[in-house]
Parts: sequence; C-alpha cells; structure tokens
Amino acid sequence: MYDKELELFKRNGFTIWTDDYISENLLKSHLDEKPGASLKGKEFKDAIIWINSKIKKNSRIVDMGCGPGLYSYELGKLGHYILGIDFNKKSIEYANEKKVIADKTEYRYGNFLKDSIDGKFDVAMIVCCEFGALIPTEQKITLKKIHDLLEEDGVFLVNCFTEKTIRVDYKEGKNWYISNGNDFWNKEPYFLMEETKYFLQKSTVGRRYYIINQRTQEVKEFILWDQFYDKNSIKKLLEENGFEIIEIEDNIIEPGRLFITAKKKKL
Ligand SMILES: C[S@@+](CC[C@H](N)C(=O)[O-])C[C@H]1O[C@@H](n2cnc3c(N)ncnc32)[C@H](O)[C@@H]1O
Repeated sequence: MYDKELELFKRNGFTIWTDDYISENLLKSHLDEKPGASLKGKEFKDAIIWINSKIKKNSRIVDMGCGPGLYSYELGKLGHYILGIDFNKKSIEYANEKKVIADKTEYRYGNFLKDSIDGKFDVAMIVCCEFGALIPTEQKITLKKIHDLLEEDGVFLVNCFTEKTIRVDYKEGKNWYISNGNDFWNKEPYFLMEETKYFLQKSTVGRRYYIINQRTQEVKEFILWDQFYDKNSIKKLLEENGFEIIEIEDNIIEPGRLFITAKKKKL
C-alpha cells in the first residue's frame, strides 16, 4: 500500500545504494567527470586538502559511507590508514580492486548503522553530505558509533547542505515520464512518477520515486531524505550527541556547504 502523502522520515526498506541495478549506476556516477554522487575536480581536491589539514600525520581514519574509495585512495597516498565501510557492494568491489598501499587501506562491505565496527580511530568522517541523508534516528546511531570509535582526542569531519544549496537541486512538485530504459533507474522500459516535498519546520526535503517496469509491471518505491542545516543547527545537533565543535567553514567549496570539524566533548 502506498501513502497518499509522503510521510516525514518514512523508510520502506529499499535504498538506491543497495538496489542491484541502480547501485551500479551510482558507482558510475562517482567515477565519471560530471558532478553527481560525489565531488569532482577542484572541489574534490579542495575537500581532500581540507581533510588533510585537520588531522595529524599517519592518522587512522574510519570513512563511513566510503563509496568507491575516492577519498580513501587520496588519503592513503598521503600516508593515512583507512577503514572504509559502505553497503554499495559494487562500490566496495571497485574500491578493493583499486586500493592503494594495501596494508594500510581496508574496505568493508557493511551497513554502518547495523554492523559493529572494531577498533579505535584518530579520525571519523562522513562526507559528501551523506550525514544529512540519514533520518534523525539513524543520525543518533551514527553519532554514537562514531563517538565510541574515536580516540579521546579524535576528530570528526562531516559536511552538510544548507537550505540554499539544497534548493538549487530540488524543486517542490510532482512529475512523471516514460523511459525506454537503459538509464539510471531501470534497464527495461519503465514509467516513473516522482515527488519532491519540503518539510520546512524540520529543514528537510523528501523525494520519492515510483518506477514501474512496463513489461513486468513490478513497482519499486524509493524514498530519499536530505536534511539541511545552518551553523547553529548543526552545532546544536552535534553538541547534543557528545561532540564539541572545533570549526564550521562555509567556503571550502561552493559557498554555503558547511564543513564541520568536531571532537569528542570532554566528560
Ligand atoms: C553520496 S555517497 C558518497 C560516497 C563517498 N563518501 C564519496 O564522497 O565519494 C554516500 C555513500 O554512503 C553509503 N551509505 C549510505 N548509508 C550507508 C549505511 N547505512 N551503511 C553503509 N554505507 C552507507 C552509500 O552506499 C554511498 O556509497
């Protein structure tokens, strides 16, 4: 049964990252030159410089949602040890094939919300604004996990969208179209209905997509969330979950995207 209205923070158990067909296209989107699932070109380089400038030499880093390891690859070359975790199987396979300095980089296929992660790290990062794509209950779990994984003087690096950056990408409304397939959503011809809805009181935008396979009539429903922040709201969220802000910067890449450096609050 599908809801008439998109319900705030609803999950339905399906994600684009774990769908067999779409996850392959997400991997492609990470790897091609166009902006998409991850930062590209100068913005990517600036993000690496930002990370490296906030952490000590030869840091042990845990990268939550590492994708195909683009960050880990560069950070590994700079001498850091990385454990990357991601539940996009195709991306982890790619990362494992491409891995640099084998004994210092490990990629693990797993769900950072559910799977336990051992060890202690100097740095935990969740980049490319994936943190805002988690709903509040998932954010709490993630922050608790990161808190436990960090050394007492460990650093947490995260970035997130502001309302201004989100509004450029997502316009409220409903739309539908027919596709011959062989594109992002489906291999076979399909009918797609999509909806984008703002929940401004929660600084959130939700999107849902129904993909109806024309041959089999199978319907897939995907719901995606993005929470956006300003400096005060991200500070409040991190402080409520055991972190202390070191710095929030909004000029690392395009103006408006927030890059946050935090550490564990002293008890
Ligand atoms: C926007 S992509 C960014 C990937 C990478 N950090 C980058 O910037 O190149 C978000 C990644 O987070 C992963 N992800 C989201 N939720 C996850 C979870 N609960 N467990 C593991 N990986 C997750 C997705 O599979 C995806 O690869």
